[in-house]
Amino acid sequence: MERQNFVLKGNLCYSLDEKNLSVVEQGYLVCEDGVSAGVYETLPEEYRQYPVVDYGDKLIVPGLVDLHVHAPQYAFRGLGMDMELLDWLNTHTFPEEAKYRDLEYAASAYGIFAEQMKHSATTRACIFATVHREATELLMDLMEETGLKTMVGKVNMDRNTPDYLVEDDAPQSAGDTIRWLDESAGRYERTKPILTPRFIPSVTDDLMGGLNVIRKRYHLPVQSHLSENQGEIAWVKELCPWSSCYGDAYDKQGMFGRDGDGYECKTIMAHCVYSGEEERKLLKERGVYVAHCPQSNTNLASGIAPARRYLEEGIHIGLGSDVAGGFTESIFRAMADAVQVSKLYWRLVDESAKPLTMEEAFYMGTKGGGSFFGKVGSFEKGYELDAVILDDAKLRHPQPLEIKERLERFIYLSDERHIVGKYVAGSKIF
Ligand code: GUN
Ligand code: FE
Repeated sequence: MERQNFVLKGNLCYSLDEKNLSVVEQGYLVCEDGVSAGVYETLPEEYRQYPVVDYGDKLIVPGLVDLHVHAPQYAFRGLGMDMELLDWLNTHTFPEEAKYRDLEYAASAYGIFAEQMKHSATTRACIFATVHREATELLMDLMEETGLKTMVGKVNMDRNTPDYLVEDDAPQSAGDTIRWLDESAGRYERTKPILTPRFIPSVTDDLMGGLNVIRKRYHLPVQSHLSENQGEIAWVKELCPWSSCYGDAYDKQGMFGRDGDGYECKTIMAHCVYSGEEERKLLKERGVYVAHCPQSNTNLASGIAPARRYLEEGIHIGLGSDVAGGFTESIFRAMADAVQVSKLYWRLVDESAKPLTMEEAFYMGTKGGGSFFGKVGSFEKGYELDAVILDDAKLRHPQPLEIKERLERFIYLSDERHIVGKYVAGSKIF
């Protein structure tokens, strides 16, 4: 993919922090070697030799970041949305994921997923595959071709899983994981592996210990699920009587962020709907990222995650689509959902937890989640240049609107037809 020095011109909107959105009308965003060299109202002399791509009156925002999505669940979006988590997993999710043993099915279903992700506003994603090593490698091949920068995980499950999907035992699951890592090493520029124990109920202590050894040897990030549903939390208490909370069950097994051993262990935990004081303290101390997935939490009647609290307590937080708990891969939709559920939380649960603002939701879907990938999710100087071009002309309004109002409407009203261009680390995707 071609990467060069150039300038994007248009109406630029990006987060400085969770409270402050920077808007530069008819601004210039300079890209040098895949990285932002800054945003300018007038183009400085030193950049005048770079070609300018003029997007006219369109909006230009940082690429969106999906911290939690299940690629093999894309095909059954919208089905079983009347169930809670554990029934939904057994009835819909596990039977569907078992199909990925068949590489022909995997190629066609993952092909649809990859194509859809390519044309979405998402430029970075952390993706669950299934337990199947070969299908996971195929998914990585397909994601690499999209030009997006992603982390993909072969899932580990060696207990409490139906026979048709469960791995044989801890050594086999760990061994397959090592083979997957060795086979994918050096094969991709944009696609990285991430360790993916599904959640505590489906991984034995033996296997979790083995994954911790692999994590250190290969210096890998980790993704999993945490405190999503009350039945699930009660189950974890039974399975790990030695843990003081769900997060501690990961932590005691070395799979919960910074480990004090000098091994960086960047970790994402999806949901965190019911993380109490002890768990939040652990999330913060270990630098663990919360993937807030409001649509999934609504569809599976899991509850409402206290996103406001996570922001205030300085816990890393980004957004996740959690397809197929969420029925759409749109992170714009996740922003709108995050604001909506925060209002219900405020009204029904805790009157002191003010609803999220549009700026906060936009921050979570860009810079908040983006920092998991490094300097990603903003247009400030030094950030990798991920950008999407938004055409809101068809979202008609009888009067001229401010740029920020146009972005706000776009978050709620747009779909992928309105995404008309995309750049990832300075490479043009379309
Ligand atoms: N917990 C364990 N597996 C899953 C999954 O596939 N989706 C969601 N939402 N939660 C989970
Ligand atoms: Fe999930």
